[in-house]
Amino acid sequence: MIEKNCYILGIESSCDDTAAAVINNGVILSNVVATQKIHEAYGGVVPELASRAHQQNIVPVVHQALQQANIDKKQLSAIAFTRGPGLMGSLLVGTSFSKSLAFGLDIPLLDVNHMQAHILAHFIKAEGQKAPNFPFLALTISGGHTQIVKVSSYFDLEVIGQTIDDAVGEAFDKSAKILGLPYPGGPLIDKHAQQGNPKKFIFPKPKVSPLDFSFSGLKTAVLYFVQKNVAENPNFIEENLADICASLQHTIVGYLMDKLKNAVKQTGITQVAIGGGVSANSGIRKALQEAEQKYGWRVHIPKFEFCTDNAAMIAMVGELKYKQQQFADANVTANARMKL
Ligand code: KG4
Ligand code: ZN
Repeated sequence: MIEKNCYILGIESSCDDTAAAVINNGVILSNVVATQKIHEAYGGVVPELASRAHQQNIVPVVHQALQQANIDKKQLSAIAFTRGPGLMGSLLVGTSFSKSLAFGLDIPLLDVNHMQAHILAHFIKAEGQKAPNFPFLALTISGGHTQIVKVSSYFDLEVIGQTIDDAVGEAFDKSAKILGLPYPGGPLIDKHAQQGNPKKFIFPKPKVSPLDFSFSGLKTAVLYFVQKNVAENPNFIEENLADICASLQHTIVGYLMDKLKNAVKQTGITQVAIGGGVSANSGIRKALQEAEQKYGWRVHIPKFEFCTDNAAMIAMVGELKYKQQQFADANVTANARMKL
């Protein structure tokens, strides 16, 4: 039986954030994220450490989410969890925890695709956030993903472009590492870029099919560029950091915008919704605002807490699936390579 006034607990553990949230009729009552700091020392996410940290964090995070929502677990209507894609060890923690809790409470289980959740986060009811109309294009950009999706309804999503190698966040983070900046370097590149000249240095834009992305060549280009210049001047990075960051950001943002323009041209859809941690980047935000003025696009950027990995978006998809009674089987398993 479907409860009209439903409370769904969402659980996210696909990468390095352990998160839990409660949603009630589209409104987020709590949104708790435990970010795993341990990976900073390694300059990237270490899968084995991530799953161990999830195991430590999941009980207190879920407890806190219920407490902040001011509800008892007995009031929950269903449990939604990230089934994939993501790191297998990390996904297993959220999956087995969710299965056990749903079984113990005798309530339905809802399996959620993480990429669909990034997109449907736009439908969370929050101040200053207006849901897009169907159809729209979704650009999901983060440390783990780079995708353009044509969204025709909540459950009709078609990937029309994606990276063939690294994600855009990785391009930021790996370039930052080459420049000697700490992990995650994306926000630091953005910060230094504010003071720099975006046209000072030229980096290549990798050539792949019109809607796809490639970033591994860019990372190599940055490495060779730095090695060559440092050999001539050991202080090259310090003396040019702002200009390097600004030029790099200009290249990446230009590349993302080229792809989006191709997608708009191909589909005729001018409504664009952005998600993922890289949507915090000031360069992409500015470029999208300009596209609204220049090309008449309608751009949607969710609140930042719903952009980065979070469980509110998992709870949102869970609620939509719950209303359609799209429940998971008791024998559902994690799927590290789950497709949209
Ligand atoms: O969505 P997210 O929190 O986690 C996943 O990767 O799934 O995204 C994190 C990524 C990192 O690569 C980080 O460097 C990047 O988003 N990022 C940024 C900025 N803020 C976060 N990249 C460029 N500019 C930013 N302001
Ligand atoms: Zn994500």
